[in-house]
Amino acid sequence: MATTDQDDQLVTPWEVTAASQKGVDYDKLIKKFGSTKIEDSLIERIARLTGKPANHLMRRGIIFSHRDVGLILDAYEKGKPFFLYTGRGPSSEAMHLGHLIPFVFTKYLQDVFDVPLVIQMTDDEKFLWKDMSVEEARRLASENAKDIIAFGFDKEKTFIFSDMDYIGSSPDFYKTILRVEKCVTVNQVKGIFGFNDSDCIGKISFPAIQAAPSFSCSFPQIFGGKKDIACLIPCAIDQDPYFRMTRDVAPRLGYPKPALLHSTFLPALQGAMTKMSASEASTSIYLTDSAEDIRDKINKYAYSGGQSTVEEHRRVGGNVDVDVSYQYLTFFLEDDEKLAKIEKDYSSGAMLTGDLKKELISVVQQVVAEHQQRRQQVTEQMVQEFMTPRKLKYSY
Ligand code: TYM
Repeated sequence: MATTDQDDQLVTPWEVTAASQKGVDYDKLIKKFGSTKIEDSLIERIARLTGKPANHLMRRGIIFSHRDVGLILDAYEKGKPFFLYTGRGPSSEAMHLGHLIPFVFTKYLQDVFDVPLVIQMTDDEKFLWKDMSVEEARRLASENAKDIIAFGFDKEKTFIFSDMDYIGSSPDFYKTILRVEKCVTVNQVKGIFGFNDSDCIGKISFPAIQAAPSFSCSFPQIFGGKKDIACLIPCAIDQDPYFRMTRDVAPRLGYPKPALLHSTFLPALQGAMTKMSASEASTSIYLTDSAEDIRDKINKYAYSGGQSTVEEHRRVGGNVDVDVSYQYLTFFLEDDEKLAKIEKDYSSGAMLTGDLKKELISVVQQVVAEHQQRRQQVTEQMVQEFMTPRKLKYSY
């Protein structure tokens, strides 16, 4: 199994649970997974190298852990190229607010470093794991690609691909998958992912498919056949098991180990004991929700760190460590001063839960409405263009 629950928390690509209302203990997770905590010095180095202010997700510790990002920055400093890789498992028509986080952060990285980006749509994964036909999984890949395009990625710098299509059309991608498959035993994937003998054989081999885009030889049309371009993967920490496996096989294949930047999870509306999840509708705010849906869900479900009566709240104050509305604001309200004032007023009891929720409702309504407007502009032709294997604007 990827992690045990000896320490009261479980983080796998399929399940996130924590015993405390404060959510996952990320310091503990760093120790368990063997990744590295992001220190202020790394954030300052990124800001210095790119000449742009650090992203608020980094400044607030939402992007909290990494693997080998120092090596990527060393290479960047010497003018050596690298590329970004991230992905989405298209399990539902609509993506949720949690999915936005790694993509918003990836967009920031693409903007400040000006590097190519590949985005894997694992329609094969969703077919294997869910009760879904291949046709439906492939359709959802294109629907979700529209949301991803609407996040603002530059077509000249970005290749989005469906596994089903790209494996079928790119011998180099398939060859890279095969090389990874040959390096990993059934015992190892059972150990890493917790598969058992009743799981279908597709699941056993899938991790090699998520690993392969970490290697530049999977994209000869972009990297001119070079196999040594370094890769940086932004994702939430649930995806780390795939990339621990990838980093393990890389040296044996003569490829650079991918570097990673991990984000924490946007909590479920009901509280940080689990993450927002597309398969649990009541835990989630979807990018397709209307302004009224957003208002109703936050008012009805968002777990409050406030006290049970107004008098007590005024006296004791609210607890921002467990309050979901406050937690969401740390993800979506970029204005540091405003956030600091909300934290102060809510903690002191000057601000009531209803006012805090009102603040969050207007922030989220705006994020979602702006996204919906941009998504409306995304045409089938744009999807086709982003998803066509081609050279990007970079030469190697
Ligand atoms: P998927 O579709 O489950 O999630 C897409 C991305 O969103 C992150 N994520 C979250 N981030 C913050 N808060 C949440 N509540 C939350 N829920 C999900 C995920 O970590 C992921 O970064 N197998 C993958 C698809 C994939 C991929 C990749 C992801 C293929 N290659 C490379 C990242 C990097 C999946 O099903 O993601």
